[in-house]
Amino acid sequence: MPTSAHDLELPVIDPTVEMDRAARTERYRTFAGEGHWLVRTLIGFAVISYDDVVGILRDRRWHNAIAKLPEMMGITDPDITENRRPSIITTEGDEHTRLRRLVAQSFSPRAADRLRPAMRNVVTDLIDPVAPTGRADIVADICEPYPIPIICELLGAPKEHWRDFSRWAEAVLAIFNGTVNEELDRIKQAIAELNDYVVGLIEERRDDPRDDLLSSLIAAEEEGDRLSTGELVTMVSAVIVGGTDTTRNQLSCAVAVFADHPDQWALLAEQPELAPQAVEEVMRYMGAVRGVARFASEDIVYRDVLFPKNTFVFPSLAAANIDPSVTDGDPFTFDIRREPIKGRMQMTFGSGIHYCLGASLARAELQEALVLLAQRMPNLRVDGHVTWKPPTTAIFGADHLPVTFDPGH
Ligand code: HEM
Repeated sequence: MPTSAHDLELPVIDPTVEMDRAARTERYRTFAGEGHWLVRTLIGFAVISYDDVVGILRDRRWHNAIAKLPEMMGITDPDITENRRPSIITTEGDEHTRLRRLVAQSFSPRAADRLRPAMRNVVTDLIDPVAPTGRADIVADICEPYPIPIICELLGAPKEHWRDFSRWAEAVLAIFNGTVNEELDRIKQAIAELNDYVVGLIEERRDDPRDDLLSSLIAAEEEGDRLSTGELVTMVSAVIVGGTDTTRNQLSCAVAVFADHPDQWALLAEQPELAPQAVEEVMRYMGAVRGVARFASEDIVYRDVLFPKNTFVFPSLAAANIDPSVTDGDPFTFDIRREPIKGRMQMTFGSGIHYCLGASLARAELQEALVLLAQRMPNLRVDGHVTWKPPTTAIFGADHLPVTFDPGH
């Protein structure tokens, strides 16, 4: 008879108490060293070994718990908990496959490559004003504004709306931040505004199709099947929300890591062909998305442990990324020359059916930005106090990252 997970003696992790991320990471390492793959959290269990994180994310009996998170955070407002349409991230099985198939082509590596010149232009425009001064706040000057014009370009939305997009994306993601009840009005307003905006844009493109994502989503068709207007709105919102705060926070994490490793920054500037590996390594070393959430859609027996229906588990992408099996040598060493081990990809884009739809786009954005930054901000050093988002934030990164560098490049 398998033992219920609730009856196992397991180490306990309390992320609200263990605010220090480095200390928490160190604890995961200790637990893994002691042979634990599962630890207890306040509301469920965290999975901390690479094989089990992948195993659970690829096991279709586990469903995405993202739609349940607001309730778990104590939100009772029906505007947030009930009125949501099913989206690619909250659906499973055939419904998910259908949505994913309809949009897959628009997010192919080739589609992302087409945006690389636009990415370089946006980064160059952001670096130009700070390059002569030799100082910048990487977050305010580069990371925050960077992803939005790219998403606008991808969707075919006018660039001048980037401030609104930025505000909506940040507000919608605040649902998962743990401080949500203080921010409900702002979040509800952002959801309504985003909805109205996207409906308007879809109407425009139906009459006047162009060479952009929105037009191809409108036209997307598989065996006579199409996205309805409601599904289009949800999909576009998912792209705006999924594609902005993630990329900008990941970029801030990346620059902070490189600022601690000046030799690697210089190496990337000299050898821009290392960019693809550098992005994988930096996302492994410090991922902006630390974990994902799943619940048992039925009683599940996994590794001889019974997880009763509705049990929550949190596959820890961050813990998987420092699993000793993921790297040749010490996983706590940052080295952009590292060759990834086959079958042991960094996990910050997740795994299984919900694997990040925008992974090719995000990779391209980070590769382009990091190379240009490394070349135009040589000798980068932190200069001042770096402030980080609270550890309970769903998507982690820096709030302020003041740096100096050699001017005039
Ligand atoms: C560095 C940047 C990014 C990171 C770290 C990231 C991370 C993730 C992760 C971990 C998941 C899986 C969530 C889960 O399993 O519960 C995910 C899913 C998703 N991401 Fe990303 N993401 C990034 C950029 C993007 C971009 C640029 C877009 C769109 C333009 C995007 C759109 C999506 C969508 C739509 C899903 C849901 C896919 C599905 O459920 O089938 N992401 N992302």
